[in-house]
Amino acid sequence: MQTNSAIQEMLINQDNNLADALKVIDNNAQGICFVTNNAGQLVGVLTDGDIRRALIQGKTIQVGIRDVMQTSFISFSVDSPQAVVQAALTNVVRHIPLVDEQRKPVDYASFSRLHRTPIMQPMLDGNELTYVSDCIKTGWISSQGAYVRRFEKDFAEFCGARYPLAVSNGTVALHLALVALGIGPGDEVLVPDITFAASINAIIYTGATPVLVDIDRKTWTISISEIEKNLGPKTKAIMPVHLYGHPCHMDEIFAIAEKHNLFVVEDCAEAVGSLYKGKHVGREADAATFSFFGNKTITTGEGGMVFFKNEKVYEKALILRDHGMSKTRKYWHEFVGFNYRMTNLQGALGCAQLERVNDFVTKKREIASTYNAILGELGSFELPPQEEWAYNGFWLYTALLKEGVPVSRDLLIEKMLRNGVETRPAFYPLHLMPPYKDYPTKSTFENSLYISKQGISFPSSVNITSDEIENIKLSLKTIMEIKEIKQ
Ligand SMILES: Cc1ncc(COP(=O)(O)O)c(C=O)c1O
Repeated sequence: MQTNSAIQEMLINQDNNLADALKVIDNNAQGICFVTNNAGQLVGVLTDGDIRRALIQGKTIQVGIRDVMQTSFISFSVDSPQAVVQAALTNVVRHIPLVDEQRKPVDYASFSRLHRTPIMQPMLDGNELTYVSDCIKTGWISSQGAYVRRFEKDFAEFCGARYPLAVSNGTVALHLALVALGIGPGDEVLVPDITFAASINAIIYTGATPVLVDIDRKTWTISISEIEKNLGPKTKAIMPVHLYGHPCHMDEIFAIAEKHNLFVVEDCAEAVGSLYKGKHVGREADAATFSFFGNKTITTGEGGMVFFKNEKVYEKALILRDHGMSKTRKYWHEFVGFNYRMTNLQGALGCAQLERVNDFVTKKREIASTYNAILGELGSFELPPQEEWAYNGFWLYTALLKEGVPVSRDLLIEKMLRNGVETRPAFYPLHLMPPYKDYPTKSTFENSLYISKQGISFPSSVNITSDEIENIKLSLKTIMEIKEIKQ
C-alpha cells in the first residue's frame, strides 16, 4: 500500500483542465490521477486513456477535468483489510484510492506498489536443497567432494567442451585462463569496450595491457574491423564477450587469431545456452570462461568455470587453481598460484541447476519473444540483435530506446521503478571510466557510446509471471503514450 505522502502526486483539483491533469499523470507515471473537490473529497478518477479518448472525440486539452473524469469508480476505506483491497486490483483496475471517513483520499493501492519485479532472481526449487543438504550431512562442504567433479563433467558435456575447471567466480576464471596461457606484462589483449568490467580487470591483474575495441553495431559484440585496426606487435590475445547472450563473430575471430598467432579467451559469462552456428559457445577457444553468479542463467551463488583446448594448459591451470602446489608432492609449489577453487556446496547447486538448464534457456527465449512483441508494438525501441547464425540464450533481455522518442532512457528507468519494475541501463563504455581511460586504443567508439546511452535491460528471471509481464507492458505503454499525447 502507498505511503501517505505518495498520494499527493496522484491528486488534482476538479477545477483544472486536461493539460494540468496530463502533467500530474506524466509526473506520477501511473497513468491515472484522482480528482478532488474544493473540500478535498474524492469525486472522480481520470486516466490517460480517458484523456486520449476525449481528444479523439474532438475535445481540446483546455477542457475542464469535470467533463471527462469518471465519476463511477472503485475506492475503499483506508481501514479496509489489505486482502480485500488486493483482491479488487486487476489489470483493468490497477489503482484504487483509499479514503478516510470524510471521503478524502489518504492513500492508494496498486499492483506495482504491492509487488516489485526484480531484474533477475535465481530459481532454486529443484534439487538444490537436497544436494546442498547432502554436502552438509556428509561434511563435504569444502572444495574436495563429488559435486564439484560432477558439475565440471556435466557442464562440459552440456557445452560439448573439454578440460573443465570449476572455480570460485567468473572473474577468476578469466584470470586463471590468461595466466595459464602465459599472458602477462608486455602483452596486449583486445577486449570490447562494452562488457562487465570483470573482463578488462582480469587482463589488468596479469600485468598485460588491455586494448579497448569498439563493438559491432549489429551484434553489440567486439567488431571484427576494429580488432584488425587495433592489432599490433604486442597483441597476444583476443577476448570476445557474448554480450547479454548474443554470440560474437567467432569464425572471423578465430581466423584473425590463427593468422596472427593469437590466443582466444572467450568470455561466455552471459552466454549459457547460447549457440554459435548450432554449437554451444566456448567449445573451440584456447580458453572459455563462464560465471555462475546469482543473476546468471544457472547459478552456484558465486562460481565460474574455465574450459581449455590444450591438455597441458589445463594441467597448469589445475595446479594454479590450487596455490600452484604440485599434484604429486604435497606442499611443493611449482608456481605462484591462487586459491580459486569452487566449494562442494557450490558444485551441489550447480549440479541441481544444470538438471534444468534447457528449461531455463527455453524460458529465457520465450520471455525475449514476449518482450520483442511488446516493444515492437510500441515502436519506440530497437530490438536486441538477432543474427540468423546465432541462437541467443537471452541471459538479460536488453533493447535500445530509439533516439528522438519523447522520454529519455534514464527517465524511463526511473518511471518503471515507480511502477515496481526494476530495469537497468546498459553497461558504460569502459574507455570513459577512470581506471581504463588511459589504455591505448585506435577505436573511437561510436557504437559503444550509442548502445550504452540507449540500452535498457528488462526483468529476465525465468520465474517471471504473466501478471508481472502484463504490468511491465501496461507501465511501458502508459509512460510512452502519455509523452506522445503531451507532445
Ligand atoms: C561478461 C562478464 N564477464 C565476467 C563476469 C564476472 O563473473 P563473476 O561475477 O562471476 O565474477 C561477468 C558477470 O558477472 C560478466 O558479465
